[in-house]
Amino acid sequence: MNLNFNRQVSIAPMLDYTDRHERYFLRLISKHILLYTEMVTTHALIHSDKNRFLRHSPFEYPLALQLGGSDPKMLAECAKMGEDAGFFEINLNCGCPSDRVQQGSFGACLMRHKDLVAECLYQMQKAMSIPVTLKTRIGIDHDDSFEFFFDFIKTQAEAGCKTFIIHARKAWLKGLSPKENRSIPPLQYSYAIELKKQLPDLHISLNGGVTSIEQIQELLTQVDGVMVGREAYENPWFLSTVDSKVFKKDTNPPANRKDLLRSFLPYIESQLKEGCPLTVISRHLVGLFNGLPGARRYRQILSNESSVANAGIEVITRAMDAVQEESP
Ligand SMILES: Cc1cc2nc3c(=O)[nH]c(=O)nc-3n(C[C@H](O)[C@H](O)[C@H](O)COP(=O)(O)O)c2cc1C
Repeated sequence: MNLNFNRQVSIAPMLDYTDRHERYFLRLISKHILLYTEMVTTHALIHSDKNRFLRHSPFEYPLALQLGGSDPKMLAECAKMGEDAGFFEINLNCGCPSDRVQQGSFGACLMRHKDLVAECLYQMQKAMSIPVTLKTRIGIDHDDSFEFFFDFIKTQAEAGCKTFIIHARKAWLKGLSPKENRSIPPLQYSYAIELKKQLPDLHISLNGGVTSIEQIQELLTQVDGVMVGREAYENPWFLSTVDSKVFKKDTNPPANRKDLLRSFLPYIESQLKEGCPLTVISRHLVGLFNGLPGARRYRQILSNESSVANAGIEVITRAMDAVQEESP
């Protein structure tokens, strides 16, 4: 397996969004972005159908598995499962503030337990040969100073973790919903940038509020990587120039959005044959034509007709025909 991948641009793990269908679709846009799974808890991997959570296509590579948990032994076991299943990297979630996750004592609340996180990362790395990485906030509640953040990261680096993805806002553990926690605490890119200055040997990827290739290029002058979440989901076409402009590789991307969608149809058909309902895939395509004439009609057709029993790819082509695309 070629583990020599580039982390300059990655797509954020997003529960309920970055499933295997979305990832396959994004891979048609860029051959080089690093993709992440949704967060999978150690409990789910160990106690239920692990194939459901680990299933992916090699076409999605390079691909990282994100785990949620706080038991070093269980995390090590799951990290190994991830390596055996073909993932390129195992990431530990230290950024999710949801109540459910707090009840399980993992996610962002782990920032208050730096030694436990270090033990988790150490055990995970010991159990496998692919890299372990950490995705974290810059602080939680009133523990939001740069010193707190720096000390947390330094502890993890000393435990052997060399790659960090910084969602550059703190989380409030009480009083804000997960959604509010992704917009109300202000973005503070300076934390990630200063961290890179002080610990230059670490790989630092910055995450939060990135919406354009130009912004990615600008941030890459100060950090090693940029992770994009919501914009990649809501407006995926913005990634169409990432291979040429950021990775500097000519990968022959689709000429326009309709070409892209056409290239996804064989995959959709194969999934339908396996019994996957169309809506499970088509829901990821809603934002593709945003801003073009006919995009509203496209969205209407997709949402009204995809859920009809036995809906097939003709729904997608009919929806696509409603859009007037600019010439390439
Ligand atoms: C619907 C949704 C689900 C998310 N699920 C996860 C998750 O499973 N694991 C994680 O680390 N972050 C999760 N996040 C946070 C994103 O990975 C990312 O840190 C956040 O959206 C900020 O990046 P953005 O401004 O580019 O969207 C989620 C975000 C959204 C919008």
